[in-house]
Amino acid sequence: MSFSILGTGKAVPAYILSNDELSTMVETNDEWIRTRTGIEERRIAKQETITELCVEAANRALENAGVTAQELDLIICSTMRGENITPSQGCMIQKEIGAVCPAFDINAACSGFIYALDVAAGFFARKTVKKVLIVSMDNLSNIIDWTDRSTCVLFGDGGAAAVLGEGDDLLSIHLTATGNDAAIRIPHGSNSSPFYEHEEEKAVLHMAGNDVYRFATAAMANGIKKAVADAGLEQSDIDCVIPHQANIRIINTAAKNLDIPREKFFCNVQHYGNTSSASVPIALDEANRSGILKKGDIIAMCAFGGGLTTGTCIIRWNGTGQS
Ligand code: UT7
Repeated sequence: MSFSILGTGKAVPAYILSNDELSTMVETNDEWIRTRTGIEERRIAKQETITELCVEAANRALENAGVTAQELDLIICSTMRGENITPSQGCMIQKEIGAVCPAFDINAACSGFIYALDVAAGFFARKTVKKVLIVSMDNLSNIIDWTDRSTCVLFGDGGAAAVLGEGDDLLSIHLTATGNDAAIRIPHGSNSSPFYEHEEEKAVLHMAGNDVYRFATAAMANGIKKAVADAGLEQSDIDCVIPHQANIRIINTAAKNLDIPREKFFCNVQHYGNTSSASVPIALDEANRSGILKKGDIIAMCAFGGGLTTGTCIIRWNGTGQS
């Protein structure tokens, strides 16, 4: 027993930050950003709070699944930083949607959604849940250094959710972690202790982009190869790949290193940039609602990010599809 995905939903802020507008903030230009990353625009939260976006994504996924909040047995939120240190973002979602089940957060950076799927699979295997809500949300605009052109052009805000029910559609899942704070790091940024002897650091993202790029291209191809083999399948059995939307060049390179045609890779990085753990489920929701995914399709989902972490899984699509 694993699970079936019963429904998906997403929520992104209304404000669209274009490459041209970014070019008025740091020394960059539309041409550089498009050719090096594939990103044309990203969403940035102005009015919307993290909790509001989580709740909107959750409610859309519940509606898509035909499941009520009261039916949920568990809520898992994957995020690097929720609205508060405590309560967890999962508990904030539970309160706002009117659920009565346990709720907690996990942090695996951009791989958070896949990690959350594996955590949920454990609850289904122990038969302690029948319906689980996963919400993946990251609001990177409040932890980006907006004076650093090598990172601020890459990220956007967003959230997405999936409702899981009992089923056998998780065919394989593979998680990795390689502790590395030199490649990607976001310090906490505040410490109220009068005793602490270290200097405070600003809570902004630091990234060695080229190192992450090399890691990502290898991780995506290797992760998919392993997950496909673990599922007892061939790469030719994959109908759709939902990759982490960090950089179109990473996706193109991974596709070249696999025997899966590039047209099968779903891409929306041009509209949202890298939304961290929301990236894969936003893409999954758009593929679901646009009718790209057909009942019975075999989907590979693959993410990588801070940690460094990776997560790859193979899922049989059970066909929700309603928009
Ligand atoms: O979820 C995981 C998170 N992270 C990632 O997935 C990031 C993975 N890495 C990447 O996507 C790429 O490494 C980047 C997009 C970050 C950088 O692309 P690149 O092709 O590796 O560029 P680069 O860092 O080698 O920089 C090339 C040049 C440099 O100038 P010089 O030294 O050649 O004169 C940079 O200073 O481009 C310059 N540059 C920029 N120019 C205009 C860096 N950022 C910008 C910018 N606009 N925004």
